[in-house]
Amino acid sequence: MPKIVVLTGAGISAESGIPTFRGSDGLWEGHRIEEVATPEGFRSNPGLVLDFYNQRRRKLLSSDVQPNAAHVAIANWEASLPQNDFLLITQNVDDLHVRAGSKNVVPMHGELLKARCLDTGAVFPWCDDMTLQTPHPERADLLGRLRPHIVWFGEMPLEMEQIEEAIIDCDCFVSIGTSGKVYPAAGFVQMTPRECWRVEINLDNADNSGAFDDSFVGRATEQVPRFIDAWKQRFGFDATS
Ligand code: OAD
Repeated sequence: MPKIVVLTGAGISAESGIPTFRGSDGLWEGHRIEEVATPEGFRSNPGLVLDFYNQRRRKLLSSDVQPNAAHVAIANWEASLPQNDFLLITQNVDDLHVRAGSKNVVPMHGELLKARCLDTGAVFPWCDDMTLQTPHPERADLLGRLRPHIVWFGEMPLEMEQIEEAIIDCDCFVSIGTSGKVYPAAGFVQMTPRECWRVEINLDNADNSGAFDDSFVGRATEQVPRFIDAWKQRFGFDATS
């Protein structure tokens, strides 16, 4: 059975109404990255940073943001395969892959719907706004000591060991809707075995496009199902396999 690693970025959620980071209507419009996505930014203005993620969280939880056909196609693809042969790594902090039904998902840049305690490191599910007065869910002595469970610039992405193990042993690596600008994710393609089929799906070429064998150019909602059909043909799988 071919082993598959899928890497997704902001482009896969764009058609669900979540702006990409580097688009003209970018997520950081009006904010410098250093202000809202670094530990230093949080230390210098925690209220602004909490509010920035509060707005993103509210939008994610609003009824107009739903998984799209690309999220669903990936979840259905995974469901048709043995569990240990498929890993979905996402740089996105939304929960749209899980909502679409994906199971083996590693959110390497954290999750918007989780909070982390600055003192104990404990992580909690979180759907509410977070403020400088928010009580700790388990410790009455801690007030305003929560931060979003998001990996900021300068911090270590999550689950790197599991990610690297899967990448160095995969037969197919597909990168969807990511600009290839942010490491370590942008370097994953270089870690794949020589015989691996490396595929990029994007509206246009990413910075690391040269490292891929094939490109599916266009919107993720169209190109992901097209690519999965191509994968089935290449590896000899049909709907009943
Ligand atoms: P970017 O915003 O850098 O790139 C999004 C990519 O998606 C671009 O290459 C677009 O061409 C492509 N794209 C946009 N709409 C698309 C669509 N409908 N279908 C297919 N592709 C589309 O987002 P990321 O590469 O995910 O990290 O950014 C990587 C990381 O940078 C983020 O996880 C975040 C940010 O800093 C952290 O917060 C740690």
